[in-house]
Amino acid sequence: MNLLFNPYDYEFHDDPYPLYARLRAEAPAYRNEELDFWALSRYSDVAAAFRDFETFSSANGVMIEPSVWGPEAWKFTSFVAMDPPRHTRMRALISRAFTPRRVAALEPRIRGVGGRYLDAALERGDFDFMADLAARLPMDVISELMGVPGSDRPEVRRLADQMLHREEGMRDVPAAAVEAALALSEYYLGLLAERRRSPADDLISALADVDTVGAHLTDDELMAVLFLLVGAGSETTTHLLGSAWYWAWRYPVQRADGFGGNVTGWIEETLRFDSPAQVVARTAARDLQLHGVRIPAGGRILLLAGSASRDGRVFPRPDHYDLRRDTSKHINFGNGRHFCLGAALGRLEARVTLEQLVRRVKPSYEIDPDRITRVHSVNVRGFATLPTSVTPR
Ligand code: HEM
Repeated sequence: MNLLFNPYDYEFHDDPYPLYARLRAEAPAYRNEELDFWALSRYSDVAAAFRDFETFSSANGVMIEPSVWGPEAWKFTSFVAMDPPRHTRMRALISRAFTPRRVAALEPRIRGVGGRYLDAALERGDFDFMADLAARLPMDVISELMGVPGSDRPEVRRLADQMLHREEGMRDVPAAAVEAALALSEYYLGLLAERRRSPADDLISALADVDTVGAHLTDDELMAVLFLLVGAGSETTTHLLGSAWYWAWRYPVQRADGFGGNVTGWIEETLRFDSPAQVVARTAARDLQLHGVRIPAGGRILLLAGSASRDGRVFPRPDHYDLRRDTSKHINFGNGRHFCLGAALGRLEARVTLEQLVRRVKPSYEIDPDRITRVHSVNVRGFATLPTSVTPR
C-alpha cells in the first residue's frame, strides 16, 4: 500500500504511531517529493544523526515551515539553528546566565504558580487541564525566569500563544503569528532597555551583562535567545503535562503507580511514549547514502524523535505505557551538542505540578473523551483541550 507521510496532516496528528511503525519497517529513509524532505524514523538513525552535527547541520533551523526555514532561522530561534563553532560559543554564553542555580531557585515559585492555578481549578471541580493549568504554568515560569513583571504576564502569554498558533490547512506561519512575534519582540526590547538602566536578578539582566555572559550580545542575538526560550520551553512542557495526565487516565494501573509516588517514572515514560517534541529538522551537509536512498548535500531531513522512542529494537513492547520500564535511552530531549538546555527545568516543572496533583486530587479523575482536541503542529504534539473532572482529597 502507498506510504504517504505528510507532517501537516491532521489525521497524522491524531495518531502518528501506526505510520511511524510503517516508516521504520518499510521506508527508514523516507522521501516526500512534494514537501521536499527525507525522514529518518529508526532509533539508531535518529540518535546517530542528533550526534553527528557535521553531517546533519542545524544551520537552516529545525522547523520546516517556509518562512522560518533557511539561513536566517537563527534570528527566530538562536543557537538551536546554528552549528559549531558558532553554536558552541553562543550556547556557552547563554549557559552562564541560564545556570542550574537559577533553575533550582525557581522551584518554590513554580509551586506557587501551580498552586494558584490548581486552587482555582479545584474550586470548580470541572476544568480544562490545558487552558486552566498546563498551558499557563510553563509560560509563567519562563516569564519569571526572564524577569517579566507579573502584571505583564497575561499579555505576554497571549502574544506567545498567538505566535505559536498554526492554522488548519496552512503550511506556513500565519500572518497573525508574525504580528504577535513583532509585538512580543517590541515588548522584550523595552524590558531589555529598562534592565540595562537598572539590572535585576533575572535572566534578561544577566544576558545583557557583559561580565556575566563574557561577551556583548547584540539586540538581535538577545531577542533570538528569548524567542528560543519561549518557543522551546513553553509548549513542550505544556504538552508533557497534558500527555502525562491523559495517558495515566487511559492506563489505570499505571495511574495508580504514578499516584503511588512514581512521578519520575510517570514523566520519563510520558516523554518516551508520546513525546512533546516529535520532529526536528536538519540539513545534509554532504551527499549521504542511507538504507539504499541517496540524500544529496543540502537535502532537508526530518528526525522523527517520536518514532525513535517507539522502536522495538530498543524499547521492548514499545506501544505499552509502562512507568516502570527503563527509559534511560530515550532521546526526546535530543542527543549530543543540541541536547535540550531546559531539560532540568522541564523535568522540574513537570515534577512539581504532578506532585501537587497527586497530593490534592483523588486518582479517580475523569477526562471527557468527546471534548478532547489536539494542537496541530509539525514539531510538537499534545492537547489543545483536555476537559477533566476531579475530586479534591
Ligand atoms: C519538557 C519538555 C521539553 C522537551 C521534550 C524538549 C525537547 C527538546 C529537544 C528535542 C531539543 C533538541 C533540538 C535539536 O536537536 O535540534 C531541545 C533543545 C532545546 N531546548 Fe528543550 N525541551 C523541553 C523543555 C525545554 C525548556 C523548559 C526549555 C527552557 C526554558 C528548553 C530550552 C531548549 C533550548 C534552549 C534548546 C536548544 C539547545 C541547543 O540547540 O543547544 N526546552 N529541546
